[in-house]
Amino acid sequence: MRQPLVMGNWKMNGRRSTVETLLKGVIAEISGLSGVEIAVCPPYPYLGLVIERLAANEAVACGAQDVSAYADGAYTGDVSAGMARDVGCRFAIIGHSERRTLFGESDTVVAQKFARALAADLTPVLCVGETAAERDAGRTQEVVLRQLSAVFRECGSGAFERAVVAYEPVWAIGTGRAASPDEAQSVHRYIRDVIAQQSAQAAGRLRILYGGSVKAQNARELFGQDDIDGGLIGGASLVAADFVGICRAACIG
Ligand code: 13P
Repeated sequence: MRQPLVMGNWKMNGRRSTVETLLKGVIAEISGLSGVEIAVCPPYPYLGLVIERLAANEAVACGAQDVSAYADGAYTGDVSAGMARDVGCRFAIIGHSERRTLFGESDTVVAQKFARALAADLTPVLCVGETAAERDAGRTQEVVLRQLSAVFRECGSGAFERAVVAYEPVWAIGTGRAASPDEAQSVHRYIRDVIAQQSAQAAGRLRILYGGSVKAQNARELFGQDDIDGGLIGGASLVAADFVGICRAACIG
């Protein structure tokens, strides 16, 4: 039985005051919620603040939105996986489609970041997913396979033993048009099958999150699918009541 995981990706949003308000709201509303693991991923400058506020609250973990492909050293502007771990992060989102598209991260760079996260004892959350054009061309599986294969090449057949995968179809991110439960389930199943070819044990334990326009209203049906083990939430994670509503749906789903 895989415990559901719901993660909030705040992206590049917030100020000290809104971070405080959002956290207070989440912490107040999640008390008593069980059967779901919850994490939030704030922008780097607020990691310290968030981790300090969460210290007394075992129920919510913290993650970084990205880590460097390099170890510590002369890499101006980057933040290493070791640093994220050192300040108290448990997770690191790796290869989000915004990083791949807007910042030109190749599959190889994403795989190097994944390896850095593992080496620093962070749980990497590898984002995979196709664009609308790729889906229309019937290339969804091919794209996801390419993205997973780069990580296997870098980290070997045990790559996903201590990791999470997030299926985030690019066309569903921030558009209000989530994948249908059937559409998502079929890609999640495919991801699990690909990983099972390398390690059946890792595949059975692996949590595969769905991300892309998840709301409290559609979360329960998505999370009710066999191979959907929670969600990676963007916009709705910026409103405490909406985020907690999604966490609740994961408990029941
Ligand atoms: P939205 O929930 O805003 O569609 O964003 C999803 C996402 O990119 C999470 O990483």
